[in-house]
Amino acid sequence: MIKGMNFDMEEESKQNLWNFDEEIRLSWERCKGNGLAHRDLPKIETVSEFELSDIVKNNQILIDFALPYMMKIKSLIPQHNSVVLLCDKECVIFYKLGEAPLLAKLGIEKGHIVRENNIGTNSLGTCIVIDKPIAVFGDQHFLAAFKGWAGVAAPIHAMDGRILGALGIYVKEEDANYGMLGMVILAAKGIEDQLGLRSEYAELEAFNRRLFEFNNDIVNTASMLSHEIRNSLSTISAYVQLLQLEKVLDTLRADKILTEVTRVDKLLNDFKSLTRPPQRKLMRHSLNELLCYVVDLMLAKARIGKVDIKLMMPEQNVYVKVDKGAIQQVFINLIENAIQAMEKGGTLTIRLLRDERSGVALIEFEDTGMGIPEEHLSDIFKLFYTTKKGGSGLGLTLCKNIIKNHNGNIRVQSKVGVGTKFVIELPYVE
Ligand SMILES: Nc1ncnc2c1ncn2[C@@H]1O[C@H](COP(=O)(O)OP(=O)(O)OP(=O)(O)O)[C@@H](O)[C@H]1O
Ligand SMILES: [Mg+2]
Repeated sequence: MIKGMNFDMEEESKQNLWNFDEEIRLSWERCKGNGLAHRDLPKIETVSEFELSDIVKNNQILIDFALPYMMKIKSLIPQHNSVVLLCDKECVIFYKLGEAPLLAKLGIEKGHIVRENNIGTNSLGTCIVIDKPIAVFGDQHFLAAFKGWAGVAAPIHAMDGRILGALGIYVKEEDANYGMLGMVILAAKGIEDQLGLRSEYAELEAFNRRLFEFNNDIVNTASMLSHEIRNSLSTISAYVQLLQLEKVLDTLRADKILTEVTRVDKLLNDFKSLTRPPQRKLMRHSLNELLCYVVDLMLAKARIGKVDIKLMMPEQNVYVKVDKGAIQQVFINLIENAIQAMEKGGTLTIRLLRDERSGVALIEFEDTGMGIPEEHLSDIFKLFYTTKKGGSGLGLTLCKNIIKNHNGNIRVQSKVGVGTKFVIELPYVE
């Protein structure tokens, strides 16, 4: 029985799982074919210091991933006359843990090339040739000089199956066991998994970068297009108004064209806001003043829709640090939605409160409109979600983005047939 093998292992070896007799025979054939004889001394070939440091540099990631495994293996095998090694696919040993001076004299040393045709059958060199794990114990080595030593090694592959190198252990023959082969196989598998994860991560990163660039291209093209279209729209509306003045176009038709022109113009404007970088100029503003200004702006529309706007605010100004234009846009969108939701008129109550406990200003927009069915409440902030003929579904997406970019929050409560309340929270400043 081979030392370290229990009965089951011996059985497995009979079934060829741990039996390398055939691989050893083939390796010996190759050695003979290369003109080696059993009594030859190992032909020691080395790379220069310069080449070795280059190899180390090129394999740094492999070393980083392999080192924890190599240290663990080293702690589990005899401390004297044992080495744990990494070689590249050209069989150059480029990393070594432990010392075995007599073994180094035979060519198993950092910077040495352990190819089969230099030093005969040996675990590292042979494992690279056959691209499989192997154990080479004692006189299984082709050169008699290796009698008394044992090696186990397993190849390490890149994601695409290319062989990168091998991990191996060399010990005195009396210290060798097949458990060591299990260790290098497991370690090589662990290193391959980490290399795989790393390359998947790198691919993902590259993909993300491409996506980001692609997104930038789309945004740039879209804003250029939207700019061009809005220019044309203003020319069209100027000509329509001219034709109307000259009585070439009757008012009804002219109004229809102008309404559509205004709709497309608003759509493009909202789209532009969606793609514009967040928070352009943050300044301290009074919410009281911003609300008064917007309500004033919307009074005419509200009157046409028979909507009464009630504005309730504390006497003391509540200040926030915001992009004025963006926040005004949010208020306008919410007031427009409320007016549109009260088809037969109603009341829109706008309340401003200062919540001392949480440090936020609360701005509520409560209407007495048709309400939103519960199953649609989670849809209303989604891009392009609209239930309106001629709506674009950009308004609330825009509101949410702007508020989020100001470290705020926007939420909604609604009851069909009773009304809807939007609540904005924005951190206030003194
Ligand atoms: N106050 C409200 N009452 C009832 N439903 C509302 C209210 N506000 C928004 N909604 C619902 O949410 C949908 C999305 O609103 P949003 O403002 O994003 O788009 P829109 O008003 O349809 O179009 P636009 O982009 O022109 O504003 C509306 O179509 C409507 O169904
Ligand atoms: Mg809207």
